[in-house]
Amino acid sequence: MLTIAVSKGRIYEEALPLLAEAGITPIDDPKKSRKLILATTRPDVQLVIIRATDVPTFVEYGAADLGIAGKDVLMEHGADSLYEPLDLGIAGCRLMTAARVDAPPISGRIRVATKYVKTAQRYFADLGVQAEIIKLYGSMELAPLVGLADCIVDLVDTGNTLKANGLEPRELITNITSRLVVNKAAMKMKHQAIQALLDQLETTLAKR
Ligand code: ATP
Ligand code: PRP
Repeated sequence: MLTIAVSKGRIYEEALPLLAEAGITPIDDPKKSRKLILATTRPDVQLVIIRATDVPTFVEYGAADLGIAGKDVLMEHGADSLYEPLDLGIAGCRLMTAARVDAPPISGRIRVATKYVKTAQRYFADLGVQAEIIKLYGSMELAPLVGLADCIVDLVDTGNTLKANGLEPRELITNITSRLVVNKAAMKMKHQAIQALLDQLETTLAKR
């Protein structure tokens, strides 16, 4: 049995057509079902439905053989413990700094609100900027508006969320897409099954 960890929401929606090409279609719809383990049309493959940020943890510990996670989540988790063989090219966005449209350019010691604490720490350290990082779990855009932070580090796609809150994108940290990750032990123990799935996905991606 191969277990694949996927988060509900945009990654799931965009991963479904890819998985379907490999013959993997969940039998229940996670939007309607409360089940966390979904059987699929392939009797040897099941999906586990978890929070996006938990995907690397499940795969690292072997609770799932494979997972689909955003590069943002993998960078924050520290991806050394996992194989990352495929860029699936889905759920594309950018990890950026952003600030109020009326804020001066970043200088001196700054306060940064983000849920990507380690990534932000690394980014500002590399720039030689002294940054105090404030961990938030959501609604990062609010922080500069209420004086909690000078800027934020967050995902930007259309830019609508920033714009609606009087913020503007500043520096690109990195482009983000979702990746297929594989547990290192499973890659050895279930090599044939995993390699076959990787080949199928690669063929599908090459056609896109
Ligand atoms: P959690 O449930 O763990 O809090 P989340 O609410 O951030 O995670 P999603 O919003 O579904 O979960 O995001 C999952 C992934 O999709 C992110 O890690 C990122 O890689 C990508 N993503 C997030 N926001 C966007 C966006 N606006 N456009 C495109 N991709 C995005
Ligand atoms: C993500 C991200 C931004 C927004 C950016 O939030 O955290 O707030 O998308 O997208 P945009 O540039 O197209 O506006 P999401 O929609 O996932 O909501 P959440 O943070 O509540 O999960």
